[in-house]
This record gives sequence, C-alpha cells and structure tokens, in this order.
Amino acid sequence: MRIITFLAFKGGAGKTTSLCLMASVLNKRGIRLGLIDADENRSVVKWRNYGRAIGAWDEDNIKVYDGSDEERLEAAFEQAERDQPEYLLIDTHGGGSDLNQLAVLNSDLIVIPTDLGTGELDIALETMEYVMNLQKAAEVDIPTGFLLNRVQTDDAKFTIAERAAMEIMKDLPAFAVRIPFSKYYKSMAGNGPLNLYADYLRTHPDSVMRLRAPQTRMSLAQAEPMVDEILAALTVPELA
Ligand SMILES: Nc1ncnc2c1ncn2[C@@H]1O[C@H](COP(=O)(O)OP(=O)(O)O)[C@@H](O)[C@H]1O
Ligand SMILES: [Mg+2]
Repeated sequence: MRIITFLAFKGGAGKTTSLCLMASVLNKRGIRLGLIDADENRSVVKWRNYGRAIGAWDEDNIKVYDGSDEERLEAAFEQAERDQPEYLLIDTHGGGSDLNQLAVLNSDLIVIPTDLGTGELDIALETMEYVMNLQKAAEVDIPTGFLLNRVQTDDAKFTIAERAAMEIMKDLPAFAVRIPFSKYYKSMAGNGPLNLYADYLRTHPDSVMRLRAPQTRMSLAQAEPMVDEILAALTVPELA
C-alpha cells in the first residue's frame, strides 16, 4: 500500500479535485483504492454519496475512510492496513494542523496542488516549506512536488504574470504534467468518479445527458499522464 497525501494550505487549491481525478483514473484501471477524508468538510465522503445516488460508485474497489480528526485518521490507517488497497489517497483540510502533520509524515508522496496566481503561489511555497520543515524535524525524506492545477497546457498562451510564475516554478520540485481548467473536473464533485459517471451518462434516458458522455470520457483520458507521473514519483527518492 502506497500512501499519497494531497496538501495545500489554501482552500480551493485543488486538493480534492486532483485526488478525485486520480482516483477516477485508477478506478478505471481496476486498481483497488482507499480514500481518507481528512477534511471536516467531508468532500470525499460527499463525492462517494453523490456517486452512489446515481449508481456511479464502485463499492468493491474504492473504500472511503473518515479521517477528520487525529483519532479517526489513526483508525483509518489501521483499517486501510487491513483492507490493503494498492493506493491510499488522503484528502486534507487547508492550513497546518496536527491532523495534517500526521497525514504528511505517514505518506510515501506529497502532492501540493496550486495554480499560478501570485497569492496562490505564495501560499503553495509556504505549504512546501511546512512540509520540508516537518520532514527535517522528523528525519524523514518523502518526495514532495507541486502539481499545477487550472493551468493551461499550452505555454504559448501564458500571460506575462503566468510566465513569471513559471520562472519561479522551474527551480522547484514540480510535476511536469498540469491539470487544465475543465468544466468536467469542476462538476466532478457532484457526480462521483469520472469513469463511472461517463458510464452513467452513456446509457442515460435524457439525450442531452448522453451527449456529454464522450467528452466526460475524454477529460478522464486527459488526466492519465498526470496519474502516471505521480505514480512514477513513488518509486524514486526525489523529484527532478
Ligand atoms: N482543474 C480544475 N478545473 C475546473 N475546476 C476546478 C479545477 N480544480 C479545482 N476546481 C474547482 O475549484 C474549486 C476548489 O477546488 P477543490 O479541489 O475543492 O480545492 P481544495 O480541495 O484544495 O479546497 C472546486 O469548486 C473545484 O470544482
Ligand atoms: Mg478539498
């Protein structure tokens, strides 16, 4: 079982979105997953509930654990240890906390989603510093990288400000693959995993809903390289 934590001090950075996207791709591949919801907003629990409500959930291969306080997170780790999913993905709340500390220090990889807005990038750097300081104090070495979210994949379309932000990013540990803005990602939280939602749409009685199936599937396919790069980072001690 490999543990990946999605962490960002800022709310709205894309922790839940990138986790749900990754979970969708891995579920499509038939990989057994555990998801720990370590956010009192219970975004992942809600995601499962919305998916279940329309039959877009995979009970056998995706287990969701409540990790919304330290005691629950410890119990979630224990339960996952028994269930032995291939990957355990942890969604966290914003800011630094004892809860986040427990998640971070027990991870095999830490993903820090951020976009390129100045305010946002500053907080992402603070998040990275927090993670590095924790690791130093605990004498552990866990690969950690920024994941650019809501950032277009075509460099030529960058604004001057985005270009400057990319200059800062280039000296920092970051995944090369970016998650672009997508309305399919935006609505994912209310629909369950994208692969299962696409199946649901494909056979929907309403023809307008059926029309959305191919692009939903395509938006899932676009996330495959992101997942591959994150998984590859698990096997190396440090990101380039
Ligand atoms: N790549 C994206 N494309 C479209 N919408 C996104 C994207 N990433 C995040 N969002 C939207 O932005 C909001 C905040 O994202 P979320 O993943 O919930 O952030 P966090 O978990 O870090 O608080 C959500 O409404 C989400 O749907
Ligand atoms: Mg969230």
